[in-house]
Amino acid sequence: MTDVNQVIQHARRQLLDAGIDSAKAEADIIVAHVLEIGRGKLGILQALGKDLSSQSESRVTELVEGRAARTPLQYLTGTAGFYGLDVQVEPGVFIPRVETEILVETTLQHFDNAVGPLRVLDLCTGTGAIAAALADQLQQRDVPVALWAVDVDAAAVDLARRNTAPYKVTVLCADATESDSVLAAAPELETLLGAFDAVVTNPPYIPTETPVTQPEAGFDPQRALYGGSTDGTGIPRAIADQALRWLAPGGFFIMEHDHTHAGELAAALESHDGWRNVATVQDLTQTNRFVTAIRTDALQPTPKTT
Ligand SMILES: C[S@@+](CC[C@H](N)C(=O)[O-])C[C@H]1O[C@@H](n2cnc3c(N)ncnc32)[C@H](O)[C@@H]1O
Repeated sequence: MTDVNQVIQHARRQLLDAGIDSAKAEADIIVAHVLEIGRGKLGILQALGKDLSSQSESRVTELVEGRAARTPLQYLTGTAGFYGLDVQVEPGVFIPRVETEILVETTLQHFDNAVGPLRVLDLCTGTGAIAAALADQLQQRDVPVALWAVDVDAAAVDLARRNTAPYKVTVLCADATESDSVLAAAPELETLLGAFDAVVTNPPYIPTETPVTQPEAGFDPQRALYGGSTDGTGIPRAIADQALRWLAPGGFFIMEHDHTHAGELAAALESHDGWRNVATVQDLTQTNRFVTAIRTDALQPTPKTT
């Protein structure tokens, strides 16, 4: 048995020595996670100088060692906070990032006066965080919504199904750059070509030769990171083309992108008569991070090609 304060101090030191900037907060999160309590209650245990069982102490040591080896904290605790939800995460599936919350926020702003029912498609869904957050927020506003979420990776699909289980979300395993692949997974969607109110996406977008510098990002699956072409815009461009097939005239598109792609992706959408009101949206660090556009009614919904 050891005093909880000693355990926390030791954890903080180990994390600081490993170069973790937020060592103090992360040590608290790890201990609270092991004790299965919130951080508020942890403060009370600290004030009372409570002891930790040797079993809990060993578990803390194990997780701190994992974190010191730069395993992302979310993989160790099994959850990531995203737009007010605790999203389950697992090694092998991309951890949702805080900047992507702006994508959710911007989509909700677009739907400010919507009464529904809405149809929304989340391409490259990963954990399903975006779909779950949109479903949760629209449900709170009493706006009926049906969502479909697509990922090519079976582990992501499995996790996304669990994260979106409380909501009306259909998760499909398919290639989001090919609407025919999505239709093969869900033939009933053929009647919804050209009928979606929004397509939202955070696809892989890193240029192929860009090394990932953040140690934690080394744990992300490669397929979640690299954009499928030397400059990284291969998958994002293909997704934007597919969005034209799915969206109804007046439908909303938002895509997260690499900060270096802002100008060229906005220009590509602007030069296409399928899009209007093309705009760039910044993330919380004032970095150009998202492109938004509205599908014009110049194009008729594209029929299925095969
Ligand atoms: C950057 S992660 C984003 C995940 C999630 N949208 C988020 O914001 O947390 C990109 C995701 O796209 C998936 N992916 C990569 N290529 C894909 C493709 N061609 N079709 C569908 N999903 C794809 C990866 O498996 C990964 O889950």
